[in-house]
Amino acid sequence: MRIVLLGAPGSGKGTQAALLKDHFSIPHISTGALLREAVADATPLGLQAKELLDRGELVPDDVMVNLIRERLGQDDVRDGFILDGYPRTLAQAEALDTLLTELGQPVEEAVLIEVDGNQVVERIAKRAAEEGRSDDTEDVVRKRLQIYEEQTAPVAGHYAELGLLTRVLGEGTIEEVLERIKGALLLGAAG
Ligand code: AP5
Ligand code: MG
Repeated sequence: MRIVLLGAPGSGKGTQAALLKDHFSIPHISTGALLREAVADATPLGLQAKELLDRGELVPDDVMVNLIRERLGQDDVRDGFILDGYPRTLAQAEALDTLLTELGQPVEEAVLIEVDGNQVVERIAKRAAEEGRSDDTEDVVRKRLQIYEEQTAPVAGHYAELGLLTRVLGEGTIEEVLERIKGALLLGAAG
């Protein structure tokens, strides 16, 4: 199964991807996590990305396209993958289509997790207190939400045009949301 998870910051992409990974036994690929690792390891990519992450801005498309090409070239994605946080712009979505067509492994399902704006702000404030992620401060979260609306929300339209998009309500308990996503994926696979 080749899945793209879409949704605003705090919508639950990472939480749900981790559960779907165990359920389907396929890798969870989070570009945000890959970038945070690169920052922690102070690699050239990390040094380039750190300020952008801390400001809540997007890392340039060409950098991200190379990063995802490298990750999707690894052996463990042969039976599928869950993408979390990629694609985030229409240019990234188009580059992904091209890459996956070359690999003969097109995206099968895109799931948009929808959560009310106030709830995502609350969830991230809670995570900020628990985990201290450097981009979870109030100002940066506002910036991330703005960039999401401007640059990432149109990506859902891209998958809708391809007939691959399902919208799922991301409110309620984590388990309830997981069951909705699994239901949506089963229906998609059957249809
Ligand atoms: P990224 O790491 O992708 O961050 P994000 O999209 O802002 O999303 P979050 O990780 O904040 O939220 P999430 O949807 O994963 O929610 P989560 O499950 O954690 O990207 C970070 C940065 O990297 C970007 O700003 C950019 O700079 C860069 N970047 C990454 N990808 C890029 C790309 N493709 N192009 C360019 N730049 C890129 O849940 C949030 C919290 O809510 C958690 O504490 C969780 O426990 C809780 N929660 C989850 N579900 C529920 C529930 N049902 N009820 C109550 N609480 C819940
Ligand atoms: Mg995340």
